[in-house]
Amino acid sequence: MSGLDDKVALVTGSSRGIGAAIASLFARRGASVAVHGRDTTALSAVQAEIERAGGRAIRIAANTTKFTDIEAMRRQIEQELGPIDILVANAGGSFTQPGPLEQTSEEGWHASLDGNLTATFLTIKSILPGMKERKTGNIITISSVAGHRPHPGSPIPYAAAKAGIEILTKDLAAQVGPYGIRANCIAPETILTERNKQRIPTTQQQALLDTHSIKRLGTPEDVARAALFLASEEAAWITGIVLDVAGGAVMV
Ligand SMILES: NC(=O)c1ccc[n+]([C@@H]2O[C@H](COP(=O)([O-])OP(=O)(O)OC[C@H]3O[C@@H](n4cnc5c(N)ncnc54)[C@H](OP(=O)(O)O)[C@@H]3O)[C@@H](O)[C@H]2O)c1
Repeated sequence: MSGLDDKVALVTGSSRGIGAAIASLFARRGASVAVHGRDTTALSAVQAEIERAGGRAIRIAANTTKFTDIEAMRRQIEQELGPIDILVANAGGSFTQPGPLEQTSEEGWHASLDGNLTATFLTIKSILPGMKERKTGNIITISSVAGHRPHPGSPIPYAAAKAGIEILTKDLAAQVGPYGIRANCIAPETILTERNKQRIPTTQQQALLDTHSIKRLGTPEDVARAALFLASEEAAWITGIVLDVAGGAVMV
């Protein structure tokens, strides 16, 4: 696969988990990477790991639910690394428990929509004008298979937010193709991040595994390789897709 030499990449939510794996892989493939999150200790650790492997990275703390924070982050990246070629809008998460809709709190609803759908919208809103001006760019959003189909284990606000990210990405792809910009979305099944390894009991991991066609659970690196493909020249004619990284657990 072609490399990402001379590219500048922002991976939001790369202080840990899937985002950290994407940032590390992009750096190993030659990109200068902005590592982003809120936890400065975790950010420093990811930056140090990238630099130890010979890559180039800066770290930036910003809240992706606040447009002013994102704008400041964009300006800092432009100053320190140059214009952003690749945006992976990955920051997000599940901020409510699954359960009956009427028992879902308003706070949980807003946190899920703000932390996923609105954060993705605000991040793209900030980075896109520069890409359009330069007539080049690559945007990857992160949804979830929860956004495809109802499942008792998926909180409704999270599923709704992720479904919103998928249609946002397709609408975006339709708008920005004429500017030389591609936009695609990755929808992972449950991924064995460090957090999930601790959160999901082994018995539940085994039950989950049984629903997969490929008999193992996904890793952050599985998602990172899909992101690398979409960011690469090999995917030059691919835009507006939602790519399931799901080990065959979901086929819709
Ligand atoms: N893991 C899975 O099984 C799975 C499955 C499907 C989809 N996904 C999606 O994949 C993405 C990454 O998931 P993950 O499991 O790797 O998550 P994670 O380990 O919980 O990490 C989330 C990352 O997003 C950052 N973040 C979250 N909200 C933020 C905010 N408001 N402002 C700034 N940074 C924020 C966190 O920063 P700090 O920790 O530094 O604050 C962290 O870097 C998410 O969008 C998630 O919904 C995950």
